[in-house]
Amino acid sequence: MTGVSSDSAPAELLRTALVRQLVADGTIRDERVAAAFEAVPRHVFVPHAPLDIAYADDVVPMKQNQAGVVISSVSQPSIVALMLQQAEIRPGDRVLEIGSGGYNAALLRELAGPGGAVTSVDIDPEVTDRARESLDEAGYGDVAVVRADGAFGVPERAPYDRIVVTVTAWDIASAWLRQLRPGGRIVVPLRMRGQTRAIAFDLVGDHLESRSTTVCGFVNMQGAGAGYERLVPLQEGVLTFDEDQEGEPHPQYDVLTLPTEQTWSGVEVHREEPLLDLYLWLASKLPGYCVLSGGDWPAVATADSLAYLASRSGSDEVHVELGCSGHGPHAGQLIDHMVNLVQSWDAMHRRGPAFQVHGSDAVLPPGFHIARRHSYITVTWAE
Ligand SMILES: C[S@@+](CC[C@H](N)C(=O)[O-])C[C@H]1O[C@@H](n2cnc3c(N)ncnc32)[C@H](O)[C@@H]1O
Repeated sequence: MTGVSSDSAPAELLRTALVRQLVADGTIRDERVAAAFEAVPRHVFVPHAPLDIAYADDVVPMKQNQAGVVISSVSQPSIVALMLQQAEIRPGDRVLEIGSGGYNAALLRELAGPGGAVTSVDIDPEVTDRARESLDEAGYGDVAVVRADGAFGVPERAPYDRIVVTVTAWDIASAWLRQLRPGGRIVVPLRMRGQTRAIAFDLVGDHLESRSTTVCGFVNMQGAGAGYERLVPLQEGVLTFDEDQEGEPHPQYDVLTLPTEQTWSGVEVHREEPLLDLYLWLASKLPGYCVLSGGDWPAVATADSLAYLASRSGSDEVHVELGCSGHGPHAGQLIDHMVNLVQSWDAMHRRGPAFQVHGSDAVLPPGFHIARRHSYITVTWAE
């Protein structure tokens, strides 16, 4: 364990309580990850925050842009723990972290040990300066902090056994693939069709294959890898499409004011059940898929109509029934299609998707393909 120079008894108690809570609720399952969390003084990396905030299982915002959007933060401990477990860092690993803050880099250093090497890169000099200072103060002076656009990796310290991305990415940069060792792993919060999940991918030959996924949320990537979404304003709300859906039509501004049609599916889900897999299933099957603001509802658009997922009370207090609402002359067809897909997901596809990533010149396997600037993501569904 690396020395902790700025610790205090109250901080230690709060830290132990946080680790116990994360172990008890099943978030931390790996003893080495628990030990790393016990060792790293999170309060040192969020110096403006009171101790109880520093050791709450919550994100600590560190910087906002002029519009008030958070562009840098120290990530939520439970998300950090889940992603570290996905990464399976081994003693001796060379690790690249994309998006700094210092805290996760210190945890990575605990896991990689003195025989490993941790490099953390951030695009923002304020962040790298603060990370450098905090890492030194907490006793992690051998973590390298680099200011650069992480979309290009850090070639001078490559190759890496693990790349851990802690900022929302739309693409797998070709530099990451080049800088990853054969058999290496990348864990990345990948955004597609309006939803983000941290996916652990292994490099298998020339492509990546998913091993696990976790629901998560991060600040958006800036720099060369930014700006993959297209927003279409409506009178009440906004539709979001991905960059590769450029040619897809969208309805007129006032479509939501047209009369509503609605159909219910008979499929009930728990109120708390994350439905990202269902949403991606719909995205895989519905041309014109987009996301409707005001609840991030999956929707499907044509040039004159719009339909979107809806829910109403289910057979008891904890369940809701899924259905579909729509507006416009073709709403009925869109609704029928979406409701049929909800039913087929419920009957056959609840195990969730698998993902592969190939370079843009590769021969792609069968599946739903999402084109990115440097790669193709292929989504497949087990029967
Ligand atoms: C959620 S924070 C990282 C949290 C951090 N790993 C921790 O220890 O909690 C995301 C960071 O990504 C950085 N970032 C955004 N775009 C980037 C890019 N293209 N390259 C490197 N860093 C980037 C932001 O400046 C921000 O500091």
